[in-house]
Amino acid sequence: MSIRRASVWPMLVWLLCSLPASAASPDPARQAELIRLLRQDCGSCHGMTLKGGLGPALLPATLNEKPAEGLAATIYHGRPGTPMPPWKQFMSEAEAAWLVELLMSGTLK
Ligand code: HEC
Repeated sequence: MSIRRASVWPMLVWLLCSLPASAASPDPARQAELIRLLRQDCGSCHGMTLKGGLGPALLPATLNEKPAEGLAATIYHGRPGTPMPPWKQFMSEAEAAWLVELLMSGTLK
C-alpha cells in the first residue's frame, strides 16, 4: 500500500507540470488567497459579483474579446490615468495571468 501511495506523487507532479496551461497555476493555498483578493479588493471597484461598478465588469462576456496578455498587464501595472491601480506589490505577473484565465473561464462562482 505504502509503495503505491509513494508512486502517486511523481505522477501528480508530472500531470500538473504537463497541463497545457499558458499561465503556471499558483498552488491551492495561494489560489484561495488570490480569489479572496479578487472578491474583496477588486470587488470594491468592479462590483462584489464583478458585474461592474467604478471599474468595468470582469465577466467572461466582457473580457473574452480582449487579449489576455493585455488584461494581465492591466492588473499587474494598473492603467495610468484611470483609477485602476497596479497590483505588482501583491502578485507576480504569472499570478495576474492566472487571474485573467480564471475570470475568462467563468468558473468563478
Ligand atoms: C480603485 C478601483 C479599482 C480597483 C481596486 C481595481 N480596479 Fe480594475 N479597473 C478599474 C477601472 C476604473 C478600470 C477601467 C480603466 C479604464 O478606464 O480603462 C479597470 C480595469 C480593469 C481591467 C481591464 C478591463 C477591460 O475590460 O479592459 C481588468 C482586467 C481589471 N481592472 C482587473 C482588476 C483586478 C483583477 C483587480 C484586483 C486585483 C482590480 N482590477 C482592482 C478600477 C479598479
